[in-house]
Amino acid sequence: MVNKRGNYSHSRNSLATKLFPRKLTLFSITVYAILLFAFSIFIFIFHIFEHERMKPLSSEGSQSQQLPDNKLWGAPHYYGLRPCVKPTAKYKATQGWDRYMTVRSNGGLNQMRTGISDMVAVARIMNATLVIPQLDKRSFWQDSSAFSDVFDELHFTTSLQGDVRIVKELPKELEHVPRARKHFTSWSGMSYYEEMTHLWKDYQVVHVVKSDSRLANNDLPVDIQRLRCRALYYALRFSPSIDNLGKKLVERLRSRGGRYIALHLRYEKDMLSFTGCTHGLTDAESEELRIMRENTNHWKMKKINSTEQRKGGFCPLTPKEVAIFLQALGYPPSTLIYIAAGEIYGGHIHLLDLTSRFPNVVFKETVASQDELKTFSNHASQTAALDYIISVESDVFIPSYSGNMARAVEGHRRFLGHQKTITPDRKGLVEVFDKMEAGQLEEGTSVSYLVMQLHKNRQGAPRKREGPLQGFKGRARFRTEESFYQNPYPECICRSKSTL
Ligand SMILES: *[C@@H]1O[C@H](CO)[C@@H](O)[C@H](O)[C@H]1NC(C)=O
Ligand SMILES: *[C@@H]1O[C@H](CO)[C@@H](O)[C@H](O)[C@H]1NC(C)=O
Repeated sequence: MVNKRGNYSHSRNSLATKLFPRKLTLFSITVYAILLFAFSIFIFIFHIFEHERMKPLSSEGSQSQQLPDNKLWGAPHYYGLRPCVKPTAKYKATQGWDRYMTVRSNGGLNQMRTGISDMVAVARIMNATLVIPQLDKRSFWQDSSAFSDVFDELHFTTSLQGDVRIVKELPKELEHVPRARKHFTSWSGMSYYEEMTHLWKDYQVVHVVKSDSRLANNDLPVDIQRLRCRALYYALRFSPSIDNLGKKLVERLRSRGGRYIALHLRYEKDMLSFTGCTHGLTDAESEELRIMRENTNHWKMKKINSTEQRKGGFCPLTPKEVAIFLQALGYPPSTLIYIAAGEIYGGHIHLLDLTSRFPNVVFKETVASQDELKTFSNHASQTAALDYIISVESDVFIPSYSGNMARAVEGHRRFLGHQKTITPDRKGLVEVFDKMEAGQLEEGTSVSYLVMQLHKNRQGAPRKREGPLQGFKGRARFRTEESFYQNPYPECICRSKSTL
């Protein structure tokens, strides 16, 4: 060090001697002053740079690595990719004036939304007029909402005008004609639905019993894929009352913390019971979940080994695991976290594991007033819509488990410009958590390093949709493909400019 400095001053001396050998003229003094000034500016800028680089995230973030803001909150590089949903030149206007398709949409909000988008495409392929779908009222979700309670019906109809003819109801004269009732085969592609047009020989109305048959993810014409995106991301807009409140809540969150994480915390009773995940629960709680599973007829798996489920990465992260995860990723305790979820199992008690590390945890019930939520309560799909809006708009979205909502939100964020979505590597995380519990790893820098390594490539950066997993044959193969609505790249996301 000393040596270096010595060399440096020596060379500077010699430079000065070379430039201004004997007497100092006014000119040389000026030049010297300018050089000095330039040098000090350089030092100054260098210092600011260093300071910015080393700036701690916050005074509290002492036990995990201190990361620059942009690493925690910035979206991944999106390489100029943008939505592209415009039809190609060979796309023709709507047909199908005298054949009708009625649909009963089933499942929760996001299953219905993706199902309806598929049915728009199916109606197009089959050259049918689509009747506004009926929403699921009977299932687990127990929601009496009609289509127009959840979605902007007029907008849905008019924005798809060039694609599919959509009517509110069947024409009077067709109300009582016999209909072909169809359970479409899951994961079917173009040829299957083209073949289905044979139904028009005998029927004028086809009734689709369930909307969740899931159109093939891949190998469909690009115009059909883009139609699915137009349907889901533009046509299926939420009704004005939901949309307005959703946006208002997003603004409220922003005014509170500037930035926020939307955490889809799937730590709900039905989820835990269904997956048989009891890690960290009391014996009484485990028993309660087992009994619920035993009594739910349509859940086929009754005997589940919780340890094996967890090791396989098939369990939703617990509130405690989420807290360790977020801390390891470098989020400071002051981070604002919006919980997008139904009722958390065990309520306050289990949440305490999260709130003790991250006190700024909020729910829609704490961001909105009772009055604002009044019209939505008892309508699961409408409150789910609020969670959806807040999750899509968040700075960072983190699902603690996979599912329809997690997939739909991730896909929508990719579509809008690859906003940050951190998908936990649950299998990898469980290994880390277990080592911590066994005392082989201490919380802090090394855990943080491991967790960051595991999630380096799980932040929602652009990549093409994944094909089927190897080792699966026949139809089972399609089931293993990445969902189209989880990642509509490349069909609905491209690099070109004039594509909207
Ligand atoms: C679609 O329906 C219209 C009218 O019902 C018909 O003229 C047209 O040929 C049909 N197209 C196809 C591809 O079946
Ligand atoms: C569950 O699986 C683990 C690991 O394979 C095993 O050690 C344990 O005995 C199993 N528990 C039961 C109740 O079968």
